Amino acid sequence: MAEKNNQASPSAAATNGQHPTIDEESATLPSQELKRKKRIKLAIYISAFVVVQIIVITTFALTVMRVKSPKLRLGAISVQTLNASSSTPSFDMTFTTQVRIKNTNFGRYKFDATNVRFMYEDRAVGQVRIPKSKAGMRSTKKIDVTVSLNSKELPSRSRYNLGNELKTGVLRLRSEARLAGKVELMFVMKKKKSAKMGCTLEFNLSTKKIQYLHCYY
Ligand SMILES: *[C@@H]1O[C@H](CO)[C@@H](O)[C@H](O)[C@H]1NC(C)=O
Ligand SMILES: *[C@@H]1O[C@H](CO)[C@@H](O)[C@H](O)[C@H]1NC(C)=O
Repeated sequence: MAEKNNQASPSAAATNGQHPTIDEESATLPSQELKRKKRIKLAIYISAFVVVQIIVITTFALTVMRVKSPKLRLGAISVQTLNASSSTPSFDMTFTTQVRIKNTNFGRYKFDATNVRFMYEDRAVGQVRIPKSKAGMRSTKKIDVTVSLNSKELPSRSRYNLGNELKTGVLRLRSEARLAGKVELMFVMKKKKSAKMGCTLEFNLSTKKIQYLHCYY
């Protein structure tokens, strides 16, 4: 409203022809108009800058600063020895695999030592130690391990089920692990993150190879 009045009054003065400072007014008018335009331009620049900053900060917060849980997995399993007897019933085996800790964060992941456990029907049949280490920024730490498992510790009830299962020609095991550690962001910020793993493994007794491996979480 104020701007409209400003524009209306000089033109009214000009038609009257009575205003003594008409020349002065008409001279100052374009510069005032110019200043106004400059102010609008500046406001637009500032707004644009603020919008760009908000986009940059939001993108940063959603990507770089968002801390995701690392993923823990077992790699390909290569059986070295596998002996199983359905009459005893028992088994013992050795295989090599890779424990993989995938870190998708923009900062390294330092984790504590842990055990990857192997179970038959929730009963431990062996485990492998993962030493304290770190996975680099957006990379996967691969740890080669040799795993030796056997049925020595299984209680009689589990052995009974094991016997029936071995007769079918397969051995089904599970593997579990939990990793505790911290993701470092910008070398200063640290955020606790843990990784969990659960895998199902199925070994074929006649081929002495793994025929099914699935990890979840
Ligand atoms: C397992 O079988 C292999 C041959 O396939 C044999 O050499 C080894 O001694 C057996 N191990 C056990 C513990 O029975
Ligand atoms: C073991 O593997 C062989 C060859 O691939 C296959 O024919 C057989 O069905 C498998 N055994 C079981 C119990 O899946």
